Amino acid sequence: MGSSWTPGRVNLIGEWIDFNGGHVLPAALPLGVTVTLRADHGETDTVTSAQFDGVSDAALDAPARGDWADYVFGALQAARRQGWLDSGATVCLDSDIPAGAGVSSSAAVTVGVLKAAAPPGTDPTRLATLAREVENQFVGVPCGIMDQMAVAHTGPGEALALDTRSLGFERLQFPPGWRFAVLHSGVDRKLADGRYSARRDACLAAANTLKVDYLCDAQDLTALPLELQPIARHVISENARTLDAITALKADDHTQFGALMEQSHASLRDDFRVSTPEIDALVANAIAEGAPGARLTGAGFGGCIVAFLPEGADETWTRDLLARHPKAWLVAAVGGAKERT
Ligand code: GLA
Repeated sequence: MGSSWTPGRVNLIGEWIDFNGGHVLPAALPLGVTVTLRADHGETDTVTSAQFDGVSDAALDAPARGDWADYVFGALQAARRQGWLDSGATVCLDSDIPAGAGVSSSAAVTVGVLKAAAPPGTDPTRLATLAREVENQFVGVPCGIMDQMAVAHTGPGEALALDTRSLGFERLQFPPGWRFAVLHSGVDRKLADGRYSARRDACLAAANTLKVDYLCDAQDLTALPLELQPIARHVISENARTLDAITALKADDHTQFGALMEQSHASLRDDFRVSTPEIDALVANAIAEGAPGARLTGAGFGGCIVAFLPEGADETWTRDLLARHPKAWLVAAVGGAKERT
């Protein structure tokens, strides 16, 4: 019997560069998933969820079926390959992380199941690496390592300045007196529907053409076909912005941090083209209502924005922004004296 709690994450800056050798700055949400795991020596795995009706069963080596339970079954199969389980298991999930919002509910489930199965004290980087393998090889989403590292290594109130190439990281505390508000646009997104892979393939093709191992290392983009140049420009500029943002956060330079978030959004909208009209309007109005910085967060194509603003101003700001965007809703406000959901 094992249990674990794993948070969701919001990415503060560093988007679409975690498989391009870049630096990212995700942070834990105060929302998370509780996993309870019981090894029951049977020939099947079973999963139940407090949020979804019904019980799902699968044979110990069953392939993915195409629904949310895949993350659990894939993680249990990975745990058996590690020798952490020797038979079937029953897993109960209880999560308050919204699914399909771009705040890593699936990475939290996958890491959470592995954490509940692993011996106490197992290196969180090992859990994160295994969880990414489950998503890439079992579920079939070719994601990078950011989400799994973020949820494995951080707790509420912490951000992770992560080098996705070396997996070296530094935990950073949020700036006192400032908050990050995470708002859902009201438009759901799904990663497994092919748009994530198409963008990833474009990055890999650009790196290949330019003969670099990682697109973040490219310098002269003129050899690229015209349609790949903005893709590469986003990747290279986003990595530089993230390093500058980490410096700004450490120096308490809030104006610069906010400006970098805004530039990141413009680059995702104009060069990488993963924003939507609803997200663009929400970001523009977040800034118009007084946030020093705001951007889409996660893969895009819908989902959430993150805005940076002084504590104290955030409650009025949220109320006014939501009045202008009736389909949007507050997922969480992190940092400052009290975290809210
Ligand atoms: C998703 C993926 C991550 C990362 C982001 C975009 O969240 O799971 O690996 O690529 O999109 O930054």
